[in-house]
Amino acid sequence: MSAIFPVTRMRRLRRSVALRDLVRETTVSTNDLIQPIFVEEEIDSPIPIPTMPGISRIPEQHLAAEIEALARLGLKSVMLFGISHHKDHCGSDTWNPDGLVARMLRTAKHAVPDMVVIPDICFCEYTDHGHCGVLDQGHVANDATLANLVKQAVVAAESGADILAPSGMMDGQVQAIRAGLDKAGFLEIPIMAYASKFESALYGPFRVASECTLQGNRKTYQLDPMNGRAALREALLDEAEGADFLMVKPGTLYLDVLHQLRQRTLLPLAAYQVGGEYAMIKFAALSGALDERSTVLETLGAFKRAGADLIVSYFARDVARCLDGRA
Ligand code: PBG
Ligand code: ZN
Repeated sequence: MSAIFPVTRMRRLRRSVALRDLVRETTVSTNDLIQPIFVEEEIDSPIPIPTMPGISRIPEQHLAAEIEALARLGLKSVMLFGISHHKDHCGSDTWNPDGLVARMLRTAKHAVPDMVVIPDICFCEYTDHGHCGVLDQGHVANDATLANLVKQAVVAAESGADILAPSGMMDGQVQAIRAGLDKAGFLEIPIMAYASKFESALYGPFRVASECTLQGNRKTYQLDPMNGRAALREALLDEAEGADFLMVKPGTLYLDVLHQLRQRTLLPLAAYQVGGEYAMIKFAALSGALDERSTVLETLGAFKRAGADLIVSYFARDVARCLDGRA
């Protein structure tokens, strides 16, 4: 026996680009990406978001052109966030058939019928207090909010939504929305549950982007960032309530949850790379500290490796521009 040490040489499979491509385990493609879009009513030109360089709130009348441009880049799905000028105590504009949610959906679907259009189903951009539901003596009232969520969901489905993404973290919201959709005849509209949504500091840039009026915090409904097991319970409950997809949000700081959930469910999983994750990479790249393209592809690859099938990311458009089918 005169084997030359080391016997196992991992570098054999890393010798050339073609070999590395052959053995690559994880890829990111435009098929997996969902681009979030901020749409504001009653403005004439885009408003750049200072906390998220490169992202703007676009005027409602630019939405069709925006969807067409994303489709030309090969993107197949968008998530819509409305910036309302019609806020009230309960967010009633969300279930007005001529409100911003309904109009955005009709516009987007009319522009590119094949685009998978996903509205964020929540109230915080439509309530004057900025909470994700109705208040009862300062507390977000769970079951009263459920009734309103059903109204919003049905109007969104009527307006052409392909998938509904409830993000408010109310108990029972998936079951309530599923029942409401079924009763209204929308048996085939899937629900992407923001199943494990943490009360994260990384939503700061988004709250600037969406002009959120929130005073205080969302600790009574979003998950405590210290609680991994509770996150799994939330997700498995949403599955039991009839969710068709489960999402973990934010992404990078919660790869452990994503990975553990991957071992416990057969549903498609989504990771949401939130505004704070975008800002961390963007500002570091703008300062010259990080290479943006490789950092972004590495983070998206990490979501896939940890178990995500889909990724919601503000970088989706940039990635579609530079991607040749793999990361
Ligand atoms: C609304 C909603 C939020 C995000 C998605 N839907 C904000 C929040 O919960 O405060 C966060 C998106 C991001 O930070 O990029 N419920
Ligand atoms: Zn909300």
